[in-house]
Amino acid sequence: MTTQIKEFIEKEFYHFHKHPELSYQEFETTKRLKADLEAHGIEVLPLNLETGLVAKIGQGDKVVAIRADIDALPVQETTSLEYKSQVPGVMHACGHDSHAATILGAALFLKQREKDLKGTVKVIFQPAEEAPGGAHKIIDSGVLKDVRAIFGVHSSALFEVGTLGIKEGPICAAVERFKIVFTGKGSHGAHPESGNDAVIIGTNFVNAAQTIVSRNLPPYEQAVVSITHFEAGTTWNVIPETVLLEGTIRTYKKEVRALAKSRLEEIAKGIATTFNAKVELTWEVELPATINDKKLSDFAKDFALKEGFKVEPSPSSLGGEDFSLYQEILPGAYIQFGTGKTYPNHNPNFKVDPSAIYPTAKYIASLTEQYLKD
Ligand code: NI
Repeated sequence: MTTQIKEFIEKEFYHFHKHPELSYQEFETTKRLKADLEAHGIEVLPLNLETGLVAKIGQGDKVVAIRADIDALPVQETTSLEYKSQVPGVMHACGHDSHAATILGAALFLKQREKDLKGTVKVIFQPAEEAPGGAHKIIDSGVLKDVRAIFGVHSSALFEVGTLGIKEGPICAAVERFKIVFTGKGSHGAHPESGNDAVIIGTNFVNAAQTIVSRNLPPYEQAVVSITHFEAGTTWNVIPETVLLEGTIRTYKKEVRALAKSRLEEIAKGIATTFNAKVELTWEVELPATINDKKLSDFAKDFALKEGFKVEPSPSSLGGEDFSLYQEILPGAYIQFGTGKTYPNHNPNFKVDPSAIYPTAKYIASLTEQYLKD
């Protein structure tokens, strides 16, 4: 039966890789996962989700959740894999296909041991991690109300197969995406006196925003403020009326996050006042930091070593991960599994070594079973 699980989940991994779907469009992936689970007698919960699903194994009040994300990225694959993406411009470049296969495998293992389980496992296949924020859909469905802890997996191109990355504390950053529009007054390029130059307003803002990290935040705290999009004007002899700016703030700590956000707002308003312009600021994405629970990470680490994995601390990243939304309401541990050192995540040449999937599935199943026993 275990060889059957191995072959089955690897086959499903190839299928998911060939047929990637973007955030909130994971209709076929969801259908396939549902069929796979039901074919193995696993109950899929009747929730109001358009994509993604939650299955249930075992019974009893002690409830633990395991989570995979299932969406792909708008990337054109350039690998020469036999099972490369058949969808132009869409690719599983972050390994979420392997997460789906891994958690599917864990579900099959847990189903085999269902009679011996000392509680309930909720198996989450989450949509739209890359959106980001698909985790909101799962949380809003109410399915986590009785859950005590959650484990998540993510592939890592920084580790070889057989190595798990597990660490307590900050793993990924809080993510803010902001959009700012300053409105001045358009005029002839030769007559600045009759206008209010939006380019000057925008550049002053860009410069002033750099002082948030360098002058407002303590030097020993991690934070990034990046202005990544600056758009103004269309030609050489017209002073533009508006400037559009976009960017991101990345932080770990709540108080650092709050200070960086309030400073950005103050600076935007201050620049507008200084230059007698109008400003509109919108926070388009807001995601908390991914902070691993100490007890759960220690438990996952000790168990991994017992199962023969090599364990390394996950590298801290100022990237984002919406697993953090679960961790706001539950203790959680986000576990990275080595999939071979190749191209980095989100690269068009990114590859997951399929041999990483089966041992990780088995580990997650045993870890979950052990958690329910303790
Ligand atoms: Ni990812």
